[in-house]
Amino acid sequence: MATKTRSALHTPLCDLLGIRYPICQAGMGWVARSSLAAAVSAAGGLGVIAAAHGTPAHLRDEIQRVRDLTDKPFGVDVLFATIRAAGDEVEQFTDQVKGWIDVALEERVPVLIAGLGNPGPVTSQAHRLGIKVMALCGNVKQARDHAANGVDVVIAQGHEAGGHTGRIGGMVLIPAAVDAVAPVPVVAAGGVADGRGLAATLALGAVGVWMGTRFIATHEAYGHDNYKKKIVAIDEEGTVVHRGATGKPCRAIRNDFTREWEKRTAEILPFPLQAQRVGFPAAIRAREEGDIENGHAACGQSAGLISEIVPARELIEQMIAEAAATLHRLGGNH
Ligand SMILES: Cc1cc2nc3c(=O)[nH]c(=O)nc-3n(C[C@H](O)[C@H](O)[C@H](O)COP(=O)(O)O)c2cc1C
Repeated sequence: MATKTRSALHTPLCDLLGIRYPICQAGMGWVARSSLAAAVSAAGGLGVIAAAHGTPAHLRDEIQRVRDLTDKPFGVDVLFATIRAAGDEVEQFTDQVKGWIDVALEERVPVLIAGLGNPGPVTSQAHRLGIKVMALCGNVKQARDHAANGVDVVIAQGHEAGGHTGRIGGMVLIPAAVDAVAPVPVVAAGGVADGRGLAATLALGAVGVWMGTRFIATHEAYGHDNYKKKIVAIDEEGTVVHRGATGKPCRAIRNDFTREWEKRTAEILPFPLQAQRVGFPAAIRAREEGDIENGHAACGQSAGLISEIVPARELIEQMIAEAAATLHRLGGNH
């Protein structure tokens, strides 16, 4: 039997997750469904289904669809949002979050990703079932908390990122997180859209990338063509961070919706109420119905680097070739 040669970009993340290339496709509400996750995993990256837009039953169907399409590892991304009900001493996961977690554990998905919040005791439950756990952070304190909680991989997400985002730019956060949590591996998120970005994050000490916006502009991403075309059309100044969609700072395409909520800041409810009342319907308006001016079209600054809509496999292969050429060029000069 012929053994496949290792990719030039093989990193410890590839061994840990059983993937060929150190490219993870980010969990993205309404966008990252089984079609995209299966295409990315089949192409050698880590495809991820976002739980955010559906019920736990819908998530279970999506997991099955990925398994029908590929036998490669994939992940499920859950926003581990907590609420503190009146009289409660500690914050609790909402029923919906509990439902998604139960499905991911019951289905023994290969990788569980906490997109928001600390997965807490779910991490050891997942480990007992053989599930790897990754968790997003926007600052070094969260990175340390995740590492102390025993996650397998910390995802350090810079301010450039689409969707919920922190205040620290990736150029600072990634190496700072790498130093803070070593030997726990760090994956870089925010602003990566090509092979140069992948090579740069490896230079900063990351073992791979968690990439969202670039994957929206692929054939397999779920989403209206207007959304994909708008991402190609805007430049690096075309997004804005605001709280009007979800109650937390969230980066999206600047449009009439963001301008309106920048004026209505006093009315914004705390997360997740604002998301349930405003952000979710507005996300459907933009991402499914294609009304980009009046909806919540989450998107990162890397839109300024994206010039065409391509198949996911082509994107991954081009990124790997470009990253390898970049590293070769840099190595050759010294
Ligand atoms: C449209 C969109 C939806 C997102 N939804 C989620 C989500 O449901 N869960 C999550 O963990 N992160 C979500 N994110 C953030 C991504 O997981 C990821 O961290 C981010 O896209 C990385 O930055 P980039 O867009 O610059 O590549 C979303 C991002 C975008 C662009």
